Amino acid sequence: MNSGAIHKEDKILIGDVRLEDIPQIIALDAEITKISKPELWYSYYAPAGRTQPRWFLAAHEGNRVVGYILGEVRAWEFGSPPCGWIFAIGVLPGSRIGGIGTRLLDAMIERFRPTGVKTIRTMLHIDEHVLMSFFRSRGMAAGPFVELEASIDL
Ligand SMILES: CC(C)(COP(=O)(O)OP(=O)(O)OC[C@H]1O[C@@H](n2cnc3c(N)ncnc32)[C@H](O)[C@@H]1OP(=O)(O)O)[C@@H](O)C(=O)NCCC(=O)NCCS
Repeated sequence: MNSGAIHKEDKILIGDVRLEDIPQIIALDAEITKISKPELWYSYYAPAGRTQPRWFLAAHEGNRVVGYILGEVRAWEFGSPPCGWIFAIGVLPGSRIGGIGTRLLDAMIERFRPTGVKTIRTMLHIDEHVLMSFFRSRGMAAGPFVELEASIDL
């Protein structure tokens, strides 16, 4: 599917998110999730006092943001050795199935690799079929951790 989009992809550059990208990322995330979270996205851009390595990357077509990805190396969380977490990824609906999501994920993996992590990890809702297909297509599969949750009023 991606081979037909090579020409379009050539115009897309992946790099660090810039301050002026944040409003477009807020809008794109709000389009995907139906919730606008400006404080959250600005906090990802300026992570005050963070000790863990974090990357916030965007796919640019000119000045237009057509995708973003947020990732971080986290150590010994839930007893796990350091691993690269993908916290969020999104591609503009009109720009999907052209390889941008793949390029964003690959770019994040290249940021993780020098840290020495051997595993990448993410969490998604079981009903998120497109995200599930995307991550499965990149070789990701169910891991050894299981999420447990309950109402706080249990
Ligand atoms: C998941 C997402 C990032 C994929 O971006 P994309 O640029 O379309 O991905 P790619 O073009 O690199 O696709 C790579 C592979 O993923 C799979 N895939 C992507 N979209 C798919 C879809 N709609 N249905 C089935 N498989 C799909 C395919 O296997 C595809 O490979 P192929 O094109 O060779 O068949 C994009 O659909 C998206 O932003 N979805 C919403 C994400 C979201 O909910 N984010 C908020 C919570 S983190």
